[in-house]
Amino acid sequence: MTPVTSLAASVNQRVADALSAALPEAGAAADPLLRRSDRADFQANGMLALAKKLKGNPRELAGQVVAGIPTGEGAVIKEIEVSGPGFLNITVADEAIISTLAARAADDRLGVPYADRPGTTVIDYAQPNVAKEMHVGHLRSAVIGAAMVEILEFTGEKVIRRHHIGDWGTQFGMLIQYLTEHPHELDHKGGEVSGEEAMTNLGRLYKASRALFDADPEFKERARARVVDLQAGDEETLALWRRFVDESKIYFYSVFNKLDMDIKDPDVVGESGYNAMLEETCRILEETGVAVRSDGALCVFFDDVKGPDGNPVPLIVKKSNGGYGYAATDLSAIRDRVQNLGAETLLYVVDARQSLHFKMVFETARRAGWLHEGTDAVQLAFGTVLGKDGKPFKTREGETVRLVDLLDEAIERATAVVREKNNDKVALTEDEIAANGVQIGIGAVKYADLSTSASRDYKFDLDQMVSLNGDTSVYVQYAYARIRSILRLRGEAEPVAHPELELAPAERALGLHLDQFGETLAEAAAGYEPHKLAAYLYQLASLYTTFYDQCPVLKAEGGADQVANRLFLCDLTARTLHQGLALLGIRTPERL
Ligand code: ARG
Repeated sequence: MTPVTSLAASVNQRVADALSAALPEAGAAADPLLRRSDRADFQANGMLALAKKLKGNPRELAGQVVAGIPTGEGAVIKEIEVSGPGFLNITVADEAIISTLAARAADDRLGVPYADRPGTTVIDYAQPNVAKEMHVGHLRSAVIGAAMVEILEFTGEKVIRRHHIGDWGTQFGMLIQYLTEHPHELDHKGGEVSGEEAMTNLGRLYKASRALFDADPEFKERARARVVDLQAGDEETLALWRRFVDESKIYFYSVFNKLDMDIKDPDVVGESGYNAMLEETCRILEETGVAVRSDGALCVFFDDVKGPDGNPVPLIVKKSNGGYGYAATDLSAIRDRVQNLGAETLLYVVDARQSLHFKMVFETARRAGWLHEGTDAVQLAFGTVLGKDGKPFKTREGETVRLVDLLDEAIERATAVVREKNNDKVALTEDEIAANGVQIGIGAVKYADLSTSASRDYKFDLDQMVSLNGDTSVYVQYAYARIRSILRLRGEAEPVAHPELELAPAERALGLHLDQFGETLAEAAAGYEPHKLAAYLYQLASLYTTFYDQCPVLKAEGGADQVANRLFLCDLTARTLHQGLALLGIRTPERL
């Protein structure tokens, strides 16, 4: 692989050098503050603040910088001029654009460099709960988490996946006891069960056992005794517990499969996976004084965490009845991930409503020394999925919407769109329409989740999601398919870069944006912001649409070389769209 220096980086370097030469006393502060601009290709604003700070005249300083930069024949910068109070407007050479892109195109990774110092990140994502239906919150964690896994791995980071499923807790006493008393509830009558059937059975059992638990004090007592057996590691009880976990996994995997997501069994390490560590975790916390006994419970206190009554709200690691909770598990998981898995970064893709929990857990782990200077723990906290009415997403009856139903509906809507767009030219078969409908529907759901910043709530609006106009994956996928169609029709003409050609404005705009792929990925990786990649791809598709409208490709007026050069831009755009969408977990059908 050959990493390619982007045009922005080369321009920045040249301006920074000229700035340092003009103003040696600026030292490390000699930052041109370069950004893309409408007036020229780039604008540099750094001279203003710098001149002000060092009591100089910004226009004069800008003039000196301009004088120190080679332009013209063969140079990257074609034109540079001072404007306004001391900005620099910079235009790069057409030749530089195409030769930089040619270097990108020659590389499998599109010239994107690896991060300077990659490390090891453990990502905690896609963590549904045993015996419970998955909902839109689990969708967000899975979709955002999977995108971060891909983006980070692309930058060279070593990524370890952890699916911290909810597979432990007192509710299992009730479930297991019910199953003992109704032993055939989870039987597979006609051989294998589908994910949907598995969940239906689990759901029925859950409801029935809960009803009994609430109505029958004697059952309640037996259920409580079961919890004790479970925690004591009683073999028979554990075997029954495992049936719930296995049955749930059939369901989880069917949903992940529908989501076109590759979740691997060894990465599913749920809450129960840390059982053996809980006692020690609590002992260390108590011995080091990080946790103290309060009303019989083992608690950690924080100066800045108080309830509405002004009293401190502690993190409870061990309840007064001796039971361990969510916090003890998460603290043990941190020890495992840092000490055994070698994590330098712990990333948690979890609902923002759990932010206080993680804040307290991270702080506790710091006090205990399990998180130290070399380790970072971050919650990638996501917002709530809202219905069209702007309220948390529920059915008309006020129940949680089943994720599977949503996905099926998205696929159905997308299939309708594909069928409607199908014509004699595209000539898709029914099978192809169905296959594309799946890739577009699932893509639409993922894209809607990934295209706004994760911390914000978003509206689940299928009409908008599968729209051909606007910021949707469908729009981006259509741009890709259109390019692939042109490439199929190219005949003898090959995509070949011709840096010597003069570029039309739409070609320059497309080219300059293509050049930003690596920088966008680096930003998305560093800030855990997949939406930056989504925005980049949407803009790339839009710029391509303008290019397509303004610049004939196969019938280019400038002759064979221009055809080749435009095909080259088409091809690189398609590869960039494909790679970018793949990192977001979204497919790119060849024909639409
Ligand atoms: N199972 C939890 C839920 O459904 C999410 C788990 C988040 N991860 C963690 N390490 N606590 O809300």
